[in-house]
Amino acid sequence: MKRSLERREFLGALGAFGAAALTGETLLTAAETVENVGVPKKVASLVDGTKPTLTIAHCCDPQLGFGIAENAEAAYRQDLQRLEQEIELLNAARPDVAVFAGDMTHLVADAPRDWPRLLKKIEVPFLIAPGNHDVPDPVKKAALDAYCAIFGDDNKSLNINGWKIVAANSQFCRPTDETALRDEHNAWFEAELRDAASTKTPVIVATHVPPFVKSLDEKDEYFNFPTAERRSYLDFCVDNGVKFYLAGHTHTTLEREYRGVPILNGETTSRNFDKRPFGFRMLKIDAAMNYEWNFVPVEIDG
Ligand SMILES: [Fe+2]
Repeated sequence: MKRSLERREFLGALGAFGAAALTGETLLTAAETVENVGVPKKVASLVDGTKPTLTIAHCCDPQLGFGIAENAEAAYRQDLQRLEQEIELLNAARPDVAVFAGDMTHLVADAPRDWPRLLKKIEVPFLIAPGNHDVPDPVKKAALDAYCAIFGDDNKSLNINGWKIVAANSQFCRPTDETALRDEHNAWFEAELRDAASTKTPVIVATHVPPFVKSLDEKDEYFNFPTAERRSYLDFCVDNGVKFYLAGHTHTTLEREYRGVPILNGETTSRNFDKRPFGFRMLKIDAAMNYEWNFVPVEIDG
């Protein structure tokens, strides 16, 4: 009965993260988990002549209006300049896909100002994982609908170059009365990963909030998933073929791992609490699961 025990543990640990959404399928047992095609290994640079199987731009917290300037409008204009530069660099670099790890603007009211125009300027496939400044706590249907009207679905996946990229809405790991929406989202997430596992497709998950900041056992805080859900959520990810986890929210550059899966938070173009320069990251992965995660600076005049 190990399977059902695992399932019960998972359900209990998921708590607000959607236990009610599970559909009656059992979780994969250890023997059924995705074949480990290699734990990702960071290298200084991919071996010459080794073509990356996937290149993914990791863009954190554009958060228009959060930057430091003499007033809010000046901050917005400066952040916008950096974001426009970032988009130009993306279009020139042509990654296979770009992921925006949430907080598209600082104020929800600013979302319609420039983003509809900016989204049309992005010339590579992209996914967006909404942040707490996009769909504020606690999630309300009206706020979610307003977000989706500008940015598209709050949960989306893309199959590319033999990988599946899954952008999920981590606002549903926080308390909400919109339990039906939360359950629907979490059922989607679980189905996406199970589907990838069934075809042994490696997965990259992107959310705004990272599961944890520094250690799995750290206390609950603004910057992480609730402790009750963290381990089972990550185990579910790893057991279903997740190889990389990309996040935002911390405004601090972080590299840590869980069971061999790198969990990465890159630089922003709005405000970096750790004084890192503005920019984004380019993740390149080769067929042997070697990877490099390189900083790309974004610089504007003034
Ligand atoms: Fe942010």
